[in-house]
Amino acid sequence: MTTTHDSGTYRPPAPGRPDIRQRTLRTDRWWLPPLANALGLATFVVYATIRSLWGAAYYVEEYHYLSPFYSPCVTASCVPEASHLGQWFPALPWFLPYALVSLPFLLLFRLTCYYYRKSYYRAFWSSPPACAVAEPHTKYTGETRFPLILQNAHRYFFYVAGLISILNTYDMVLAFQSTDPATGQTSFGIGLGTIILLINVIGLWLYTLSCHSCRHITGGRLKHFSKHPVRYRIWTGVSKLNTRHMLFAWITIATLILTDLYIMLVSSGTISDLRIVN
Ligand code: FES
Repeated sequence: MTTTHDSGTYRPPAPGRPDIRQRTLRTDRWWLPPLANALGLATFVVYATIRSLWGAAYYVEEYHYLSPFYSPCVTASCVPEASHLGQWFPALPWFLPYALVSLPFLLLFRLTCYYYRKSYYRAFWSSPPACAVAEPHTKYTGETRFPLILQNAHRYFFYVAGLISILNTYDMVLAFQSTDPATGQTSFGIGLGTIILLINVIGLWLYTLSCHSCRHITGGRLKHFSKHPVRYRIWTGVSKLNTRHMLFAWITIATLILTDLYIMLVSSGTISDLRIVN
């Protein structure tokens, strides 16, 4: 049914959706968070896409720094020293990333993340643009139909992301070494790059462990916490982290870019690594 409203043609909302006739009653700058989110997410997507396909300046051989966008480096195009898990594929065309086995899962892990979903539904889809602001869409099916029903696969990407975080941790541990280019001898070393990699890995673990799926895996489907004290303690810890999940989501976007950018600058010879212990 269509009725006429004083501001023009009025279409009733879809069943189950609130009947808000003004666009919003809010008087604050409600559009600021979705705008900031759109800019932040777009920056990350553009940067990560360009760098993943760049195919250069992703590894510092002397200090064993490997960019997280290239881990694991598994194609014949990779620098052999950067291929910690071996080279599983021949040289790939430019439109396929060297970290072919991890990046699609990491992308899907973030894309289906409960927080990012809220963020990009608001920023790019206006569904809704903000709390108490009417959305432009007349139909609403939530995540009950294809393709959005696939968002429910998030829990499976969580397991893969956990494995990749272990891999990133391994890369970070290797960065506590330095190799003398003259003698080829490897010894313990710490540089600014090591610290940056360490901060990035801590951030990645905080983001991964604060995931809503992790919270469910550790404490979900239990009738009596008292009968599962260990799971209860883990669930309590994960729940505390979970309250900061949005913060970790943004921190890791920043640390991923910073880590890759630093390694790119050192690897290309634009700057030298600041060594703390050689
Ligand atoms: Fe964000 Fe799982 S909810 S990573």
